[in-house]
Amino acid sequence: MDRLTILAPAKLNLVLDVLGKRPDGFHELRTIFERISLADRITLSRNKNHKISIRCAHPHVPLGPGNLVYKAAMMLAQDFSIEEGLDINIIKNIPVAAGLGGGSSNAAAVLSGLNRWWRLRLGLQELVGYASRIGSDVAFFLYNTSYGLGTGRGELIKPLDVKTKLWHVLVTPRVKIYTKDVFTRLKLNLTNKKDNVNILLPFLRKGDLTRLAGALSNDLEPAILSLRPDFICLKKKLLDAGATGVCFSGSGPSVLALATSQKHALSLRAQFDRRYTQVFVVSTL
Ligand code: C5P
Repeated sequence: MDRLTILAPAKLNLVLDVLGKRPDGFHELRTIFERISLADRITLSRNKNHKISIRCAHPHVPLGPGNLVYKAAMMLAQDFSIEEGLDINIIKNIPVAAGLGGGSSNAAAVLSGLNRWWRLRLGLQELVGYASRIGSDVAFFLYNTSYGLGTGRGELIKPLDVKTKLWHVLVTPRVKIYTKDVFTRLKLNLTNKKDNVNILLPFLRKGDLTRLAGALSNDLEPAILSLRPDFICLKKKLLDAGATGVCFSGSGPSVLALATSQKHALSLRAQFDRRYTQVFVVSTL
């Protein structure tokens, strides 16, 4: 095998409940992940200089230890005493620091890609162990599932047997928001906490788009809006344009809109591409 090319898809969070702060500083979450068709393309190939090097044309992607892909490759190379050099080429389509899990998905793709490439024979649970050490969102991408329930820091995944295919328009303002900054600003209100996952799940299973739209929710929204109060207008504009429901994904700033069909999603996009440069029509993968 000369080279290995892997697609690394993005995720959305249809619900994100924050249950409390943990002694380790992380927050206990309950979230529904959806894997979507927007994807980066990663190619692994050998090099002769015995180093791990990352190539990516995107100006905001770090090419060294700051990249989760680098961490993933280094962990495996060290644990399995791999001396062979590796080039990792990333074609970036997923916006960076946007609540879409792009960096996490890249890391998961490299973990499973190198498991094959270096013939490590690691099982899913062993890969999940590596994923959890890299970041809270990495594990979801190792599961071959359209939807997953995430608990713990978000790294404990239960694949959901849901057949519904959704269409969305995704609008990502060109502002990077760091997850850490959002969690730092979060004010926890633990009284009267609704279980938004179990409210949304039956509607998702049935494909009841109207009720699903009403059940989208994200507890990080007040913290995202405290960083960028103007983003509330984006949600409003999407609703005014005819989106069935809208919600921030992860720690933002991407806003996902639920559409009733591909045609509906394309017509929503047409109203936004002039005002925003990163507008995507995506579907469940
Ligand atoms: O795990 P990850 O590296 O994506 O997390 C980035 C930051 O987001 C953490 O350092 C932490 O401050 C915050 N975080 C959190 N609770 C989570 C996930 C992330 O507080 N469940």
